[in-house]
Amino acid sequence: MAILVTGGAGYIGSVTVEALEAEGYDVVVVDNLSRGHREAVADDVPFYLGNIGDRSLIQRILNENPITACMHFSAFAYVGESVEKPQMYFENNFVQTAALLDELIAGGVMRFVFSSTCATYGEPHTIPIDEKHSQNPTNPYGWSKLFVERMLSAYDNAYGLRFVALRYFNAAGATATRGERHDPETHLIPLALKAAAGEIEQLSIFGDDYPTPDGTAIRDYIHVSDLAKAHVLAVSYLENGGESDFINLGNGDGYSVREIVDVVSRVVGRDVPASLEPRRAGDPSRLIADASRAKTVLGWQPEFPDLESIIRSAHLWRAR
Ligand SMILES: NC(=O)c1ccc[n+]([C@@H]2O[C@H](COP(=O)([O-])OP(=O)(O)OC[C@H]3O[C@@H](n4cnc5c(N)ncnc54)[C@H](O)[C@@H]3O)[C@@H](O)[C@H]2O)c1
Repeated sequence: MAILVTGGAGYIGSVTVEALEAEGYDVVVVDNLSRGHREAVADDVPFYLGNIGDRSLIQRILNENPITACMHFSAFAYVGESVEKPQMYFENNFVQTAALLDELIAGGVMRFVFSSTCATYGEPHTIPIDEKHSQNPTNPYGWSKLFVERMLSAYDNAYGLRFVALRYFNAAGATATRGERHDPETHLIPLALKAAAGEIEQLSIFGDDYPTPDGTAIRDYIHVSDLAKAHVLAVSYLENGGESDFINLGNGDGYSVREIVDVVSRVVGRDVPASLEPRRAGDPSRLIADASRAKTVLGWQPEFPDLESIIRSAHLWRAR
């Protein structure tokens, strides 16, 4: 029995590979390294270089390994880029996922854990956001993920595929050995750490006139180890006959951009040089998860919910 992890050389995938191995699972990784790092996958983990939409590659992986479930992390995940290059996003995130699913189902792999996103909700009309909230994405990235969610429901209904679609809020933090290394980096915490270290001139803060206590946007940050743990629980939930489900993963707490900047400067012991820019179009003022289903359905409990430990782990990983 082995788990196929797509995008296992990326940030969240590589941390989850570690977590699966720690739980005794055999893991096989497929990644085209378009955005990932070969060294993020340990040498003893079988690694296939290529696209998840390459049908013959997926067939070969299934022939060579006793795969019983797939965790699907691989995707492009920059909102701004998806607005400029929607074709690239629908092809990579939706069309290639459709090919992957065809091959998995043809090979009898009927358990699937999907990296979905809070971007499928669009502009929230209630906070915290639960899984029944309407889904109306404001960008092609969110739509590419929502299309996959819809496809998964139809495949469950028609073919008996069992899936858990995990809708992450903002992944952050690091383990001792794996962390965030996106290029270009667009996420707030690594950018604030880079600004504090003098690696970039300054951090851009987009908007300070939101209806929030300090005027900056509020987001829900979840430690990447807690995300990884939820994936391990999701696969065991499916192994135990669990029904397909959509589940939010967040802390249920929000922090503003200014709060992040303050904690980063406290953790690093240096100021974070920052410039104030206008709001970005389509950026909601608050995105906070109602993560109660993750607790009731999966038995998940975040181990590192506080912001300081999330930021400290990211800082330690960068400084290693
Ligand atoms: N980082 C977040 O805060 C966040 C939030 C919500 C959802 N997600 C989702 O979680 C998943 C992982 O995010 P991440 O931050 O680890 O991203 P990442 O870019 O670090 O990892 C994605 C990996 O997928 C690989 N990849 C991309 N397209 C591929 C393809 N067609 N074939 C094979 N490999 C391919 C890349 O090389 C990379 O290693 C993504 O699906 C993303 O949409 C991330």
